[in-house]
Amino acid sequence: MTQKEEIRILAIESSCDETAAAVVVNGRDVRSNVISSQIDIHTLYGGVVPEIASRKHIERINQVVQQALDDAKMTLDEIDAVAVTYGPGLVGALLVGVAEAKAIAWAKNLPFLGIHHIEGHISANYIEHPELEPPFGCLVVSGGHTHLVRVRDYGEYEILGKTADDAAGEAFDKVARAIGLGYPGGPKIDQAAKKGDPLAVAFPHGKVRGSEYDFSFSGLKSAVLNYLNEKKMKGEAVCTEDVAASFQKSVVDVLVEHSENAVREYGFRKFAIAGGVASNSALRAAMEAMCRKRGVQFYRPSPVLCTDNAAMIGAAAYYEFRKGVRSDWSLNAVPNLKLGER
Ligand code: KG4
Ligand code: ZN
Repeated sequence: MTQKEEIRILAIESSCDETAAAVVVNGRDVRSNVISSQIDIHTLYGGVVPEIASRKHIERINQVVQQALDDAKMTLDEIDAVAVTYGPGLVGALLVGVAEAKAIAWAKNLPFLGIHHIEGHISANYIEHPELEPPFGCLVVSGGHTHLVRVRDYGEYEILGKTADDAAGEAFDKVARAIGLGYPGGPKIDQAAKKGDPLAVAFPHGKVRGSEYDFSFSGLKSAVLNYLNEKKMKGEAVCTEDVAASFQKSVVDVLVEHSENAVREYGFRKFAIAGGVASNSALRAAMEAMCRKRGVQFYRPSPVLCTDNAAMIGAAAYYEFRKGVRSDWSLNAVPNLKLGER
């Protein structure tokens, strides 16, 4: 099959609390990347309220898509395919993006593709690193997911390890709330930790007994809550910065240790991180140091491409499109979609 030189994909992402659209050419050339965040609204409730997220997506999606086309200086007539996140995520939120993508594809008679959100996060690494090609190892750490993945080829993933309970980002958010930093917790703990002592409190590591690759963060979260309660009972003051730094160290240590196990076992020459928590400054520094020590090339997206965005969906969609993947009108939102499933 001869390939058209330029494949221009309009990508849509609405799986959680970001309404996003982007135009991406040939998977790596981002012509526009519009993100309308709902953080201000959800902050009032201390976390994402699914019903509000769906409503806000409906209010904003048309404008966001139009803005993405305008920023890219394109009309729908110049678009070759429409891609959309169809899972995992909040079902009502996902449905807004899926309906929008279907409507555009139907109206303009375009092919359209449902994309896995985690595949999007991993593919964010392709955008700023034109030389990055599979195979490589990737640690995906977000608000909903913690996966250690072997990327065998474009669209081919083997999950080496995952969390048994809370995701890494979820732990950041819950601990931030407990120490009074508010929502969203990740960036706030990142900031507070810079002023704290990571060795001040010895919190447990988020491991699963007998597993080199799996994670468990609920015990760590409970340990932080117990520590705070104990301090309160004794009437002792809590140093927020020290707790933030010690908690963050505990999370980062286990993420790096398990990634290093995978590098050693699978002989990866390249290793990437992805997802919202991949914008954490301590994690970035520690992963970079581990990769340098092991002679492995390290990749990470800019922070804006770590957290939810549609450019990453456009990047993933290009490689699926080239493989001939197309969705049909029966495509539905799949809130618990597994990586590698269709
Ligand atoms: O990838 P993402 O935008 O959404 C999901 O797919 O879940 O990730 C959001 C998560 C939140 O839990 C947020 O607290 C966390 O990423 N996060 C961070 C940082 N920035 C965002 N966690 C730690 N440090 C950060 N700098
Ligand atoms: Zn995400």
